[in-house]
Amino acid sequence: MIAHSTWNFEDPDLVSAIDELPLWSAPFGQALLDAVALKPHLQVLDIGSGLGFPALQLAQLLGPTSTVFVLDPWQAALTRLQLKMDQYGLSNVRIASGVAEHMAFEDESFDLITSNNGLNNVQDLRQAWSECRRVAKPGAQLVLTENLPGTMLEFYSCFKSTLSELELTEYLPAVDSHIHSKRKPIEETRQIIGESGFKIVQEKHGRFIMRFLDGSAMINSFLIRLAFLPSWKGLLPEERQDGVFEKVETALNAKAAEKGELDLTIPFVCLDCRRL
Ligand SMILES: C[S@@+](CC[C@H](N)C(=O)[O-])C[C@H]1O[C@@H](n2cnc3c(N)ncnc32)[C@H](O)[C@@H]1O
Repeated sequence: MIAHSTWNFEDPDLVSAIDELPLWSAPFGQALLDAVALKPHLQVLDIGSGLGFPALQLAQLLGPTSTVFVLDPWQAALTRLQLKMDQYGLSNVRIASGVAEHMAFEDESFDLITSNNGLNNVQDLRQAWSECRRVAKPGAQLVLTENLPGTMLEFYSCFKSTLSELELTEYLPAVDSHIHSKRKPIEETRQIIGESGFKIVQEKHGRFIMRFLDGSAMINSFLIRLAFLPSWKGLLPEERQDGVFEKVETALNAKAAEKGELDLTIPFVCLDCRRL
């Protein structure tokens, strides 16, 4: 057992490594970790590992007989992941910088592939699945989570009605294709998986609610400003953005006033697959 007799709780690197898990990633990751078959001596690949959740957790659940490869093109995230690995004292994690569409791994390398909201973020989904098939051993388990088209439907319905009220209906199709590009209907995902030489053995649907006092709290929250607002704004030309999101915020505030809070629904699925 790796034991530190004295942890230095004033060490900023240790503190940053402790303070690591975004609430957004947690419900997806919990579903994924619940679905993984824990066995000794696994070669594991986690796709779209980002800052290391849930891959670093999985590496600890499996212990030192297994090795977890983390794959992501985001260099700064991998640097932080390395810091956490060092702080945790993990020796069974290997960092791979790159994309799922072109992996630098031998054929039939992995017993288990995981991806927590990762595979659904790649540029070329079919190519990524084809690579997964190539690097997975026959019979390998692949577990992924992704959010579904109804994600934040409360926001999108306000956004669309605001665009209509402002006579910006020409941008409504862009909103729909944005939703489609980010969150594929489950039927499409099932089809890609089937055509890529995998079989779904279990499909678990879940949902969680992101609660905010109102639209202003939501629009100004860090997660929304960081990961959502820029792409929502990008659906409109710059000269048309003015005032639209203020109006959406007002509409969301009115919606929240009816109920006493603004609830955003996040439906997601956890797919447990086998490589044929
Ligand atoms: C929503 S984040 C998920 C991060 C982490 N797994 C979690 O649960 O918090 C999606 C991740 O996919 C990565 N990504 C984007 N394109 C990718 C690609 N083509 N191949 C592999 N990973 C990719 C991003 O850099 C990002 O870290």
